[in-house]
Amino acid sequence: MQILRDLDALRAARAARGPLALVPTMGALHEGHLSLVAAAQATGLPVITSIFVNPLQFGPNEDLSRYPRDEAGDLAKLDAAGCDLVWLPSVAAMYPEGRATSIEVAGPAEGWEGAARPGHFRGVATVCAKLFLQTGAAVAVFGEKDWQQYQVIRRMVADLDLPLRILGGETVREADGLAMSSRNRFLGPQERALAPRLHQAMQAAAAAMAAGTAPAAALAEARAGLAALGFGVDYLALVEPETLRETTARPGRLIAAARLGSVRLLDNIAAG
Ligand code: PAF
Repeated sequence: MQILRDLDALRAARAARGPLALVPTMGALHEGHLSLVAAAQATGLPVITSIFVNPLQFGPNEDLSRYPRDEAGDLAKLDAAGCDLVWLPSVAAMYPEGRATSIEVAGPAEGWEGAARPGHFRGVATVCAKLFLQTGAAVAVFGEKDWQQYQVIRRMVADLDLPLRILGGETVREADGLAMSSRNRFLGPQERALAPRLHQAMQAAAAAMAAGTAPAAALAEARAGLAALGFGVDYLALVEPETLRETTARPGRLIAAARLGSVRLLDNIAAG
C-alpha cells in the first residue's frame, strides 16, 4: 500500500495507476469505512482512501480538537483490506495561506444538519471537490449513514459537471442496530446501551407508516418515546430522499439526529 503525503507524490501515483476509486474519510476507521473500501474495490479500479480531518466542516464550538485520530491503526486496517493508496494531506497542504475559495451549497444542504451546523456542508463540499480534483478519481464512495451529506455531494457533482460517479455504501450497524460511527466511542456505558433505541424507534415509525398511520402521528410518537428515554431529539423527519425536503409522501427517507450526553447520533432508513 502506497502512502502519499504531498501533492507531487499523489500526482506521480495517479499517472502510474490510471483512474482511481476514492473513499474520502476523516480516519478513525471502523467496519463501515472498510465496507466503503470494499465497494470501491468492486468497481475494479485501484482504490485510494483519503484521511483528512477537515477543519472547514467543524463549527467553532464543535469537536475538531477531540475528533478521534489513529493514523497507525487506520493504515494497518487499510493495508489489511487491500487498499492500494492512502492520501494523507496536511492542513497546510490542503488549505494554503491565503485561500479564498469555497463551494457554496444550497438545496439538500439547507435544513437538518445544514441548519444545526452552519457552514458544515460548505466545508464538506469544499474539501470533497478538492479531493476529487487532487485524486482525479473516476468514482467516489460515500456512506449512506450520512444521508444528507451523500445527497449534497451528488447534487454538487451534478451541478458542477464534475467528471466522476458517486456511489453510496449501505450503513453498517453493530449487532444491536446502532449505526457505526467514529464518535460512538465517546458514548458512556449507559448511553451505549440506550443508543440502539434510536434505530428501533425509527423502524417502528416506518412500520407504523407502512401500516397506515399518518407520518405526523408516527413521528410524534417516536420523538416522544425517545425523549422519555433521555434522548435530546434534534430532528426525526420524513423527507424526500434526494432533496431532503420534508414530506408526507412515501417512499421517503426517515432521517434523525439525537443527542445522548455529548454524542450526537445520526441515522436514516428508507421509509417505503
Ligand atoms: O464523512 C466524512 O467523513 C467527511 O465528511 C468527509 C466526506 C470525509 C469530508 O471531510
